[in-house]
Amino acid sequence: MQKQRKLVVANWKMNPDTSLEAKKLFTAIRLTARSLKNTDVLVCSPFIYLNSIAKLDRPKHVYLGVQNIAELEKGAQTGEVSATMVKNEGATYTIIGHSERRAIGETDESVSKKINLAFVNNLRPIVCVGERIRDKEGEHLTFLREQIKASLAGLSKRQLLDLVIAYEPVWAIGKSYQDSMNPTDIHEMTLFIQKVLSELFGKDMAKAPTLLYGGSVEVENTKAILDYGNVDGFLVGHASLVPLEFGRILELVDRR
Ligand code: PGA
Repeated sequence: MQKQRKLVVANWKMNPDTSLEAKKLFTAIRLTARSLKNTDVLVCSPFIYLNSIAKLDRPKHVYLGVQNIAELEKGAQTGEVSATMVKNEGATYTIIGHSERRAIGETDESVSKKINLAFVNNLRPIVCVGERIRDKEGEHLTFLREQIKASLAGLSKRQLLDLVIAYEPVWAIGKSYQDSMNPTDIHEMTLFIQKVLSELFGKDMAKAPTLLYGGSVEVENTKAILDYGNVDGFLVGHASLVPLEFGRILELVDRR
């Protein structure tokens, strides 16, 4: 069984260019979000806009988050932003280990440290996992198992219940719905992730984390993935920058 409430995350990445645009975008998303009954919406803006967005009012089921946190709690870390800082500015979630960060050197070890720091600071971590390529021999499954094992090392069962896992096949990110992963394959992969969780934490924990899919989610493939993908929601990149499109995705998710 999937989770009662769905979660849809807007990952704005390095967009938009101004604080004014960020506020406009948030306001437009909020408009659709207000009428949702069964869906939580999370907006992960760049750090720099968090504070001004947090000043706008929002319904209880609309949350704010960031796209990364520093690996250390505090100290001399030029250019970094700590979990404590973002918590104090209104974030309740943080994405961790997005493939675009892993591509510039973020390791599983660092991801694991950040997940722990997030929990210490009462931030819900959304840890991204996913293979770069798929092959007939199933090497991508081995890769994914290892990535999950290393990223979630040392987590307690209690923490697992608050964890969000975003399965994002890297090859499917930033394309269009036609090049996204098909719902049947998503189902196979989300079942695999649950199998790995049960190996690592016990059978009763297989479905403990909220499980999202990300990678070219658009209006066109939302319903099919919801129907067949075995997911609790989505991590949406480019489509979350277009309020009309993101609004449609939210409505489709909420109707289910
Ligand atoms: P996309 O991005 O929806 O643009 O593919 C998803 C993500 O990278 O989180």
